[in-house]
Amino acid sequence: MGKRKYIDLRSDTVSKPGREMMQAMMQAPLGDDVFGEDPTVNRLEEKVAELFGHEAALFCPSGTMTNQIAIQLHTQPGDEVICHALSHVYNYEGGGIARNALASTRLVHNDEAVMHPHEVESLRHDDSDWLARTSLVVAEDTSNRGGGKCYRMDELLALSDCCAQLGLAFHLDGARAWNAIVHQGHEFLRYGMLFDSISLCLSKGLGCPVGSVLLGSRDFIREGRRVRKVMGGGMRQAGILAAAGLYALEHHIQRLADDHRRATELADHIRQLPGVRLVVEPETNIVLFDVDEGVGHKQWLASLRDQGLLSVPFGKNRIRMVSHIDIDDADLSAAREILSLVAESLYLGPVSSSAKKG
Ligand SMILES: Cc1ncc(COP(=O)(O)O)c(C=O)c1O
Repeated sequence: MGKRKYIDLRSDTVSKPGREMMQAMMQAPLGDDVFGEDPTVNRLEEKVAELFGHEAALFCPSGTMTNQIAIQLHTQPGDEVICHALSHVYNYEGGGIARNALASTRLVHNDEAVMHPHEVESLRHDDSDWLARTSLVVAEDTSNRGGGKCYRMDELLALSDCCAQLGLAFHLDGARAWNAIVHQGHEFLRYGMLFDSISLCLSKGLGCPVGSVLLGSRDFIREGRRVRKVMGGGMRQAGILAAAGLYALEHHIQRLADDHRRATELADHIRQLPGVRLVVEPETNIVLFDVDEGVGHKQWLASLRDQGLLSVPFGKNRIRMVSHIDIDDADLSAAREILSLVAESLYLGPVSSSAKKG
């Protein structure tokens, strides 16, 4: 009996490296990266830094680590970080801002998932002996809890100018910046120049098994190497992982447009199902929708899983689905059939299960 095949839309992190990526990994020249001697890691770091116009880069195991290193380097204990209330650094990094950087947060609250200069200006503390010093702004592009929402270039420019004028460092949590760049048609160099530091994930839309890259000035990254070691993130023959990143930079960036198209098609389908309300129009690869309270998200998730479709809860009665490299058009149409079947059986009574996947 074969293992049951699920259509897995829980996250873009669930994809597995394909054969060609695996071959690139197997063939990578390796060395000890803690000694700075892994040629493949060095090549990946140089390549990503050059792409975004930054002086240097640091390969790390995760996006949480690249964000946390950046926050520690941009702040002193007792400082404050301005970020969005929906942001990953605030919600999903285990309280790392407080724990690792000994800093606190001031939050921007709005439904848009993007921050604006007037919000940063009003949250920033003036210099005084009794107020926490505001030292850093962290933006997230695309926004995960914001349903893959992107900043427009004019919004980023305004935010970047505002940080420069107020003397605040500007860090980008760009776990899915690749998606934002493809969707918005940004130029990499112009985009990169807007930030003092950038965290990029290779293990999400780009389809790598592991890895994130932190970008910044040469001095910033030199210090970052120390912090990475302290956090236990110094890896040895990490070129085997970096090779996947180099492969993905060549082959997996432009194809993100297909993931975005599929997310839009999925959302178009979900929008007309009984019992659901689309939360935001998807711009990139994340679809968020709310289901009615009567049935509730737990029942939805269980019924979808029973029919072979995996998704995750994302707040009360909210469900997230994410398109990614391992989802093709056939998977998408099967997902749509399952969604229809489940919605009809939950709201209109039982229906025959023709869409059931083997
Ligand atoms: C916006 C954002 N930032 C950072 C991360 C952290 O990445 P990692 O899971 O590699 O630690 C994630 C992970 O989902 C994310 O969505």
